[in-house]
Amino acid sequence: MIRVRKIAHAAYEMPDLEKQLEYYTDILGLTLVDRSKEAAYLASTVDHHSIVLSKGAESKCLRLGFQIAPDDDLDAFERQVQGHGVKTERKKDPEPTIADMVTFVDPKGTVMEVFRRGEFAGQRFPTKGIVPHKLGHVAFHCAEVKKVTNFYCDVLGFRVSDWMGEFFSFLRCGPDHHTINLMETGTNRHFHTAFEVRDWAHLQTACDHLSLNGYKLLWGPGRHGIGHNLFAYHRAPNGLITELFAELDRMNEELGYFEPRPWHRDRPQKPKVWAKDPSASNLWGILPTEEMMK
Ligand SMILES: [Fe+2]
Repeated sequence: MIRVRKIAHAAYEMPDLEKQLEYYTDILGLTLVDRSKEAAYLASTVDHHSIVLSKGAESKCLRLGFQIAPDDDLDAFERQVQGHGVKTERKKDPEPTIADMVTFVDPKGTVMEVFRRGEFAGQRFPTKGIVPHKLGHVAFHCAEVKKVTNFYCDVLGFRVSDWMGEFFSFLRCGPDHHTINLMETGTNRHFHTAFEVRDWAHLQTACDHLSLNGYKLLWGPGRHGIGHNLFAYHRAPNGLITELFAELDRMNEELGYFEPRPWHRDRPQKPKVWAKDPSASNLWGILPTEEMMK
């Protein structure tokens, strides 16, 4: 099968576009690279854009972009998706630097945009704001976690890294422990968008920068059990939650276990079903506030 290899971008809609744009540039430290009447494109790496913002009635994550490998066949990928009874659309030049794209909708209503990366845009990392390494993962509340998990695995080629009980799945499409995570809570909506920072020191600087600019943490800093990443969560101006993380587990696909780390309890740490235990959420002990689930 043809597997997607990387999350490329996430697209959001919100009533106050300008405020969210200011947050992404001045606070997070992404670069505004393109602006049309419909959308603002923000870059964080060599790719042209990682985040797309447009105006809408309510704040939500509309679309996720994924790359296939440079020598993968997009026509064959489209047939693979259709083979699962999923309706696809083909779009030529839909977004800057993307020439050809297959789109379809996942079972919880998020649009998937799959493409081959053409030219790199060669973005420099900016010098103001937090400046994360990259967009790392997007997490969703969902009504039917098994159905959506199977869709990402069967149609897009994701692999399951871990489950918490039967209600929370963590899925990878590359070496990172998770690029998509899905928590069954009865509704289909965005949970959080996560950006990778360098390390613990960068996370501290980021939390101070957030605080100086009036952003309070919702949860963290802590270290998750599942994925073992350092984390800190806050709410963006559009009301959606942003996570900053570092030291996320990395899978060695050939060996079938995550790169060993001193904080692992399993040796080696392999994909598994975790009990619904506080340490699966935070090895350091402090559990999420109710505010995290709003
Ligand atoms: Fe996360």
